[in-house]
Amino acid sequence: MEVVISDRSAALAADAVEALVRGNPGAVLGLATGSSPLPAYRELVRRHDAGTGPSYDGVRCFLLDEYVGLPPGHPQTYRETIFRELTDALGIARDRVASPDPADPEHAGPRYEETLRAAGGVDLQVLGIGGDGHLGFNEPGSSLASATRIKTLTERTRRDNARFFGSVDEVPRHVLTQGLGTILRARHLLLIASGAAKAEAVAAAVEGPVSASCPASVLQLHPHATVLLDDPAASRLE
Ligand code: F6R
Repeated sequence: MEVVISDRSAALAADAVEALVRGNPGAVLGLATGSSPLPAYRELVRRHDAGTGPSYDGVRCFLLDEYVGLPPGHPQTYRETIFRELTDALGIARDRVASPDPADPEHAGPRYEETLRAAGGVDLQVLGIGGDGHLGFNEPGSSLASATRIKTLTERTRRDNARFFGSVDEVPRHVLTQGLGTILRARHLLLIASGAAKAEAVAAAVEGPVSASCPASVLQLHPHATVLLDDPAASRLE
């Protein structure tokens, strides 16, 4: 695992995405939502608007997770969020952005796994980390070999995500998330974390035992994982 502590995480993450797409215009990107990747997504859009980025016409995207229970088109669905924050601005057609289908949560997991496989798997998976060490929405206790499936959010994660909604009561209780086993099949994992609130989870993920009690510790099992941290997020590392 490569750990990079830098105040240029957004630029470094954007560099990694651009280098991949320049080398492989048909690359498959795995995309997290939430606050952590936003500066990197904004940097990609800024470069694209400035005319210095690659063409994204041939790229396909797979969302890491999606809420269950929001009406289709709700601005906080991760599908709408990624259209708004990234893919529309990069000119990626909406039908090239796949996400687990919350309208059919029972069958969505196996179908999503099949779609991922048919696309050849994810080349570069952008990830954030929860304050409790969750990866995707694989909360502590998730199987390290898990596949895409429905999960129940913990109260802590619902409270953490309430900032995107009017109140915690509006945060859905369920999500569909790629499993830890799914995430580990991506060819390059790029985890971005910033701020002191992530420091403990980052230390557990990077330096603790590989354990379901810190799902993000599975990064230690991956042959090509990069962790981009700012100083506060790195502050609990030995
Ligand atoms: C989002 C996701 C989550 C977030 C995590 C951190 O697609 O899978 O694991 O990455 O909850 O969220 P932020 O970045 O908002 O602190």
